[in-house]
Amino acid sequence: MRALRDAIRGGRLAPGTRLPPYRSLAADLGIARNTVADAYAELVAEGWLTARQGSGTRVAPRADPPRARRTGGARSSGDRENAPRPVHNLLQGSPDAASFPRTAWLASARRALTAAPSEAFGPGDPHGRPELRRALADYLARARGVRTDPDRIVICSGFAHALRLLSGTRALRHKAAVEAYGLDFHRSLLAAAGIRTVPLPLDEHGARTEELATHRDLRGVTTVLLTPAHQFPTGGPLHPERRATAVDWARASGGLIVEDDYDGEFRYDRRPVGAVQGLDPDRVLYVGSVSKSLSPALRLGWMVLPDALVDEALTAKGEREGWVSALDQLTLADFLESGGYDRHVRRMRQRYRRRRDQLVAALAERAPHIRVSGIAAGLHAVLALPPGTERSAVRAAARHGLALDGLADYRHPDAVGPARDGVVVGYAAPPDHAFAGALEALCRALTPGDSPTSR
Ligand SMILES: Cc1ncc(COP(=O)(O)O)c(C=O)c1O
Repeated sequence: MRALRDAIRGGRLAPGTRLPPYRSLAADLGIARNTVADAYAELVAEGWLTARQGSGTRVAPRADPPRARRTGGARSSGDRENAPRPVHNLLQGSPDAASFPRTAWLASARRALTAAPSEAFGPGDPHGRPELRRALADYLARARGVRTDPDRIVICSGFAHALRLLSGTRALRHKAAVEAYGLDFHRSLLAAAGIRTVPLPLDEHGARTEELATHRDLRGVTTVLLTPAHQFPTGGPLHPERRATAVDWARASGGLIVEDDYDGEFRYDRRPVGAVQGLDPDRVLYVGSVSKSLSPALRLGWMVLPDALVDEALTAKGEREGWVSALDQLTLADFLESGGYDRHVRRMRQRYRRRRDQLVAALAERAPHIRVSGIAAGLHAVLALPPGTERSAVRAAARHGLALDGLADYRHPDAVGPARDGVVVGYAAPPDHAFAGALEALCRALTPGDSPTSR
C-alpha cells in the first residue's frame, strides 16, 4: 500500500492507470489474493484508486486522499470546487467544511482587529486573551453548564493539544483510564508521553464508571478520560448515575476526570446534556474546542481547570503563546459575544439533524436489518452489524467508493469482552450536494445480496 501510494503521489502511476488484477499481483508478490484485495479496497477508501465494474481498479482521476488528516497542503477554494471527488466521504471527524460561516467570521475578524489594543500584537500570554476567556466563561456557563471564572480557562489549540499539555502534570501521569472505544490518536498521544491507558468497559449507559473503584486493572488510576455528552464513537450520553459515580470516585480517591466535550452543542431530541464539570469544578478538567462546531482548521480550544492545576498548565505551555494566534482568539471572542457563534451552531444543528433524519429514513427503507444508534446527538451515528460482518461491510463500502470506519478501529487493544461489529457513519462531512450520493452508496453497500462492483 505504501509503495502504491508513493508511486501515485510521485506520478509514476498516472491517473487512469489500470492496476493488475488481484490474482496476477498476488502471484507476482507471492502473497494471498485477499491481501491484495484488502489493500486495493483500503486505497479506494482513501481516494487513491477507484473501482468500477467492467473497468477494474484504476488510479483515481485526481488521486488525493479524502481524509483531512492526510491531505497535507491547503488548496484554493476554486481548486476544491473544480476537483472531482474520487469517493464518497462518510468518515467521522469533520464538520461540514463548506458551511464555515465565512462572512460572519470575517466580520468578527474585522471588528476584533480594529478594536485590538496594541499589546495584542506583542508576544502572547500563554493563558490566552482575556477577551476570549471572559467570553468563554459566559458562553460555557450558559450553553454547557460549566462553572468557571476566566482565570481558570487556559486557551489551547484543541483537545489533542490539551492532552499533550496535561501529560506529565498532576492531571495525567503514569496510568489513565479511557473508554474502551475511543480515538486511537488520543491513546497514542498518551502512550508517547509514557502514560499507560487502561480501558473502561462500556454498555448502553456509557462508561462503567463504577469499575473505577472496584476493578483490579484500574487500581492505581488517578485520571479518567470521558466523553460524557456523547460517548465517542458509540454514541450515548453517560447515564446520570454514572456521572455521579465518576465524581464520587474522583472525590474519594483524589482522582481527576478529563471531560472531552467535543460535540456537546449538537443534541437533537432535547436541550444539550450539561457538562459533568458543573458537578465538581475541582475534580473535573473540562476541555472543548471549535473543531466540530466551526472547523478543526482553526486549532482553537480551551481547558477549564481546577484552580490547583492552572499554574502547571501554564508552565507546560511555556512563557509565551506558541500555538494559538491572538488574532484568532480575539475573533472568536467577538464571534461569541456578537451572537455569531450561537447563530452558527443553531443553523448547523438544524442541518445536521436533517441529515441524520435522512440517514435514518434511508436505512429504514433500504437496509431495515441495520440498527442505528447514537443518533440523539453529534455528527455521526453507529450502524450495528451482525457479529463477524464488520470487515466485509467496510470492504463492501470501499468497493462502492465510500470511505467510512469500522468500530474495530476505535477499540482499545486491551479491551475485554466481545467486540461490537458496526460502522461509524459521519454524516457531517459531505457538502450538501454530495450527501444524497453518499447515502445511496451506503445503502447499496449495506444491502444484502448486493453485488460487489470490482470483482
Ligand atoms: C473524541 C474527540 N475528541 C476531541 C476532538 C477534538 O479534537 P481537537 O480539539 O484536537 O481538534 C474530536 C474531533 O474533533 C474527537 O472526535
